[in-house]
Amino acid sequence: MTSERRSSHVSVGHVFLDSPLIIASGTWPHEAGFWKAPVCSGASAACTKALTLHAREGNPGIRLWETPCGLLNSIGLQNQGIDRFLSEDLPKISAKDLKVIANVAMETEEETEAVLSRLSRFSELLAAVELNISCPNVDAGGMAWGSDPRQAARAIRLARQNWKGPLWAKLTPQCAEISLVAKASEEAGADALVVANTWLGMAIDTSSEKPVFKRCVAGLSGPAVFPLALRLVWEVSSSVGIPVIGCGGISKSDDVISMMLAGASAVEIGTLHFADLSCFRKLQEGILEHLAAKGYSSPMELIGRGKRKDV
Ligand SMILES: Cc1cc2nc3c(=O)[nH]c(=O)nc-3n(C[C@H](O)[C@H](O)[C@H](O)COP(=O)(O)O)c2cc1C
Repeated sequence: MTSERRSSHVSVGHVFLDSPLIIASGTWPHEAGFWKAPVCSGASAACTKALTLHAREGNPGIRLWETPCGLLNSIGLQNQGIDRFLSEDLPKISAKDLKVIANVAMETEEETEAVLSRLSRFSELLAAVELNISCPNVDAGGMAWGSDPRQAARAIRLARQNWKGPLWAKLTPQCAEISLVAKASEEAGADALVVANTWLGMAIDTSSEKPVFKRCVAGLSGPAVFPLALRLVWEVSSSVGIPVIGCGGISKSDDVISMMLAGASAVEIGTLHFADLSCFRKLQEGILEHLAAKGYSSPMELIGRGKRKDV
């Protein structure tokens, strides 16, 4: 197989992507320069910051805290509200080199309906909606929707009624049995599942002897969570027929390959690019090298290949 014939394209249902690398929600600025090569080279799409009906200031106090192998965040869905996103940000970021995936924070049913019906007017500019039923950093809504199969199904049904394009559900690790939430989401009409959002953790400041974050707990991302996320991807992709997008702690091309071997059709990456903006290009090179070494023509040949237990 010559390198010219080897492609890095993947499809997530009906969403066709130039590479399996998607930039995770909340980690990429809504600024034109970030959505154009060479800054984003190697990545195929980016998720917006979580969108809500009304503007939100986010959580007070410290919002980011580095840990030896990861990052705790307590941003709290800070955003300028859907109307300003549509009038100010979307024109800047659409029709560039990255496809736009709108991350919609599941709030009340009425608020979420309003956000989705506004997004529907711009559906030709959006590759998919990623319904965030997994935010760990808010008191109301957020991951409460994604931690119970019936609530998750209710959220997806509502979204399905108000958004006709590709609908991805972003799941939370904070649930008793993620495969049940995954199956309920599939039955309710999700086209793909993003596995998963951050893991609840905390930090205590030993000088003040108080929790670092005002809400005490926060979401952990980065390399520390990779093996945990990989296990969830393997479990979810074994339970549903729709595509799975792996997310959590990816820091090298072997991690992307492992996620795909475990059953992911694509991956999302956040914390890694805070330290290295050229990571997408390096990850893509690593994937192509692996494909060449194995004689595969496409990364899609990796999907689910590592599930076998007979090795
Ligand atoms: C600073 C920060 C903000 C985030 N904001 C959002 C968000 O608005 N919506 C969402 O679904 N996930 C959000 N996330 C979670 C990421 O999209 C991703 O699921 C998580 O960081 C795990 O991937 P990673 O280990 O590659 O960073 C955020 C993560 C970080 C670090």
